[in-house]
Amino acid sequence: MSDPVLAKGRVAVVTGAASGIGLAACKRFAALGMRVAMADNDADELRAAEAAVTGQAAGGGGDVLAVATDVAKPADLERLRDATYDRFGETALLMNNAAARVAGGSREDLDEWRHTMEVNFWGVVCGVRVFLPGMIEQGTPARIVNTGSKQGITNPPGNLIYNVSKSAVKTYTEGLQHELRNTDGCQVTAHLLIPGWTTTGKREHKPGAWLPDQVVERMEAALGRGDFYILCPDNEVTSEMDRKRILWGAGDITENRPPLSRWHVDWAEAFKKG
Ligand SMILES: NC(=O)c1ccc[n+]([C@@H]2O[C@H](COP(=O)([O-])OP(=O)(O)OC[C@H]3O[C@@H](n4cnc5c(N)ncnc54)[C@H](O)[C@@H]3O)[C@@H](O)[C@H]2O)c1
Repeated sequence: MSDPVLAKGRVAVVTGAASGIGLAACKRFAALGMRVAMADNDADELRAAEAAVTGQAAGGGGDVLAVATDVAKPADLERLRDATYDRFGETALLMNNAAARVAGGSREDLDEWRHTMEVNFWGVVCGVRVFLPGMIEQGTPARIVNTGSKQGITNPPGNLIYNVSKSAVKTYTEGLQHELRNTDGCQVTAHLLIPGWTTTGKREHKPGAWLPDQVVERMEAALGRGDFYILCPDNEVTSEMDRKRILWGAGDITENRPPLSRWHVDWAEAFKKG
């Protein structure tokens, strides 16, 4: 079953479109005959990506728009919306996908914390605020896909800033979908894309990782079913392992274990055996 939103002539807006999962999504949408607005703050990479997506576009260059956009700047997102509506007249799918990948813990420089939250969290919140009114007003089925991460659910140690930003995206998107389904006449639904380990950017592909196309294929199938959580395995972590890890994390609260007990010296064995 395919999602009627992912259809010829409809319009997808993707942030973080110059690389990785965002770029793979743009190529797939273009191949489906959708018109695609690509947004990224790396203007050079965006130009190259635009050419690659145009190569896949059923309707050629006229169906692809690239707008240099820093999602941390609401004015940039407004410019992106205006350019999209000027050229294509609607937004059927908004994919808030751009992210900064900053490593660091509680003592990391505050500017790094703020920047990560500006891009990964506020970029999503502002993307929704800027696009959603028009998407509701269109009166046609439409989707918002926010890209989260398993790290925002299971909170593995070593990358606290990123985990916090992605946990905020999860909570926000869940609440957003609740609001949307309780809004009279609203045909927009929200979804949380949760990729596994995926080779993106200039990183060398490792056998354990998925490729961006696999994530996009999974997303397409999940949207076709109307799934909210689009949880992707990879070649190392199966869906069953994801299930066990997520349930274990929730069990830290319900079983009164210490937080992150999966990595706690007194509990790690119990998790492995469980
Ligand atoms: N690759 C993985 O293993 C993985 C796993 C879980 C979640 N994710 C999430 O998937 C999404 C896509 O990541 P990816 O792996 O394809 O990364 P990527 O680095 O290949 O692509 C991210 C893109 O976002 C752009 N970007 C960064 N800051 C921006 C800003 N302020 N404004 C606009 N664009 C900006 C970058 O220029 C880049 O083109 C991200 O939200 C990431 O957190 C990735």
